[in-house]
Amino acid sequence: MDHFERTVGCGEVTQKNLDETIVLKGWVHKRRDHGNVIFIDIRDRTGLMQLVFSPAISVEAHKVADHLRSEFVIAVQGKVVNRSPESINKDLATGHFELQASAITILNKAKGLPFHLEDADSVDEEIRLRYRYLDLRRPAMLHRLAIRHKVVFAMREFLDKQNFYEIETPLLTKNTAEGAREFLVPSRVYKGSFYALPQSPQLYKQILMCGGIEKYFQIARCFRDEDLRADRQPEFTQLDIELSFTTEKEIQDLIEGLFQYIFTKIFALPLELPLQRLTYHEAFDTYGSDKPDLRFHLPIYNVTEMFASTQLSFIRTILDQGGAIGALHVQGHSFSRSDLESYVHFSLQNGAKGLVWIRFKEDASIESPVAKFLPADFFKQMSDALGVKEGDTLFLIAGPYKEAWGQLGKLRLSLGEALKLINKDVFRLLWVTDFPLLEYDKEHKRWSSVHHPFTSPQTGWEQQDPEQMKARAYDIVCNGVEVGGGSIRIHDPYVQRKVFDYLGLAKDEMEDHFGFLLEAQELGFPPHGGIALGIDRLVMLLLHCHSIREVIAFPKTQSGYDPMMQAPTVVDLKKLAEYGLKIDIAKKDKGPA
Ligand code: AMO
Repeated sequence: MDHFERTVGCGEVTQKNLDETIVLKGWVHKRRDHGNVIFIDIRDRTGLMQLVFSPAISVEAHKVADHLRSEFVIAVQGKVVNRSPESINKDLATGHFELQASAITILNKAKGLPFHLEDADSVDEEIRLRYRYLDLRRPAMLHRLAIRHKVVFAMREFLDKQNFYEIETPLLTKNTAEGAREFLVPSRVYKGSFYALPQSPQLYKQILMCGGIEKYFQIARCFRDEDLRADRQPEFTQLDIELSFTTEKEIQDLIEGLFQYIFTKIFALPLELPLQRLTYHEAFDTYGSDKPDLRFHLPIYNVTEMFASTQLSFIRTILDQGGAIGALHVQGHSFSRSDLESYVHFSLQNGAKGLVWIRFKEDASIESPVAKFLPADFFKQMSDALGVKEGDTLFLIAGPYKEAWGQLGKLRLSLGEALKLINKDVFRLLWVTDFPLLEYDKEHKRWSSVHHPFTSPQTGWEQQDPEQMKARAYDIVCNGVEVGGGSIRIHDPYVQRKVFDYLGLAKDEMEDHFGFLLEAQELGFPPHGGIALGIDRLVMLLLHCHSIREVIAFPKTQSGYDPMMQAPTVVDLKKLAEYGLKIDIAKKDKGPA
């Protein structure tokens, strides 16, 4: 009976199908054998439906049902009837009905499964990825992909209404030194030459502006060969946007409108606009991060002044070297000694030289490893300055400002989690603006771009030292994760060359890498700017997932491996010779296996 066409989805059977003969197709989800009667839950993308096989309905079908096992694919025909009142399942959309199966065909069998679909959340991730098709069959995974589809579809719909054109840009491109390490693709025709996979379509979208497109977007695949984390993949997807004759405000308003559209349309969630804005300096100074999680407060206080005459020798040394002291003030939580020690350990691991904790006890005394070095009126001082009360705890880190604040930022997040200060049900979005243009890379002893080398400096840059220059750049942050970043770009070849200069590019390197851009900037390049949103990250947050791998159909493992396809693989030497390539590494280093 496999020639029967499916008439309705398993999860879509309703009252209107009652007494109808229908055909369902799907997977055997569960089987309960009561001897003369066999119950099967059949599952497809739309949901579940209960089937009943009994010799009283069909001897043939009952016989086949006896052989069914989990994940067999079947087609089944039968009549929809009401379940007896005691067997109604109110948790199931189709729980009032069952199908009296009169005919069945097995479309595909399934051997013993490597894992039960219900247990997938506790199965090793590599096994889930190896059998991703089994993993994807789970309703939770299907739901995630469905939401991802809706988010991407909403983006297209929203931008189409605003007269943007969706334009594809090449995946085989030139290595551009945009920031991260690139994946290289050898050329067979031009032996010894390589394409690079794009880290983002950054330069193409700028060139599209020079081409008069004015409003561009793309659901763009990007590739970066960098260390992976829970919110990073070597290939990921951006919503990439660029506009001509634009301003920071116009781009930010556009993105706020887009977020509101997605939040209300897909999640029925209100989103209050305009979003909060913090400058990079405010964000870092208050939260020790350029992507602060604003779902809880716990700010960093600068208490350097209060220790100006301290006798604590390690703090004295840090202050004499121009360092600073930051404090986190935790109200009314009683930490155990081992909790406190674990935070000290945590901060040391993050590179702090030490973490000082100070407990303000109920009897107005102070408990701390450094208690005897604190002034007699320390409690009062802290109470006046920070509002410290009995039962509170202060955590202090001293060091060079950037380092100490970064470490406090990490401690803040750790405390926020441990003390359950974070409301996991809300989305706190904000813009971070006024980033520095350049940062000094101590390892390579040179300046590098905080965003990318095509970011426009803010006015006044020509009179400033590199560390003072600010960028016309902005990030959008949600719950402590950077979901997007963009900027107004340089369109003037003079400014572009100057920035390349700061980045240490020699004249011939500028021409080699970016000659096409510098040339275009002399042939009528309009002022322009844009942004890119990380779609995987955004969907991960919206669905409260812990890793972007949960919202990508076929992600790579943390070490960049595809366990299903088993990629990357060693390539036959003869094949490599066609590209003019030879492998010059020890056998043991070849391939992931
Ligand atoms: P940026 O490098 O900030 O900007 O990237 C934009 C957004 O892409 C996401 N993202 C990632 N997501 C998953 N895995 C990764 N490895 C990864 N790297 C980045 C983040 C990030 O905010 N061309 C510029 C944009 C512009 O200036 O218009 C760019 O790519 O959510």
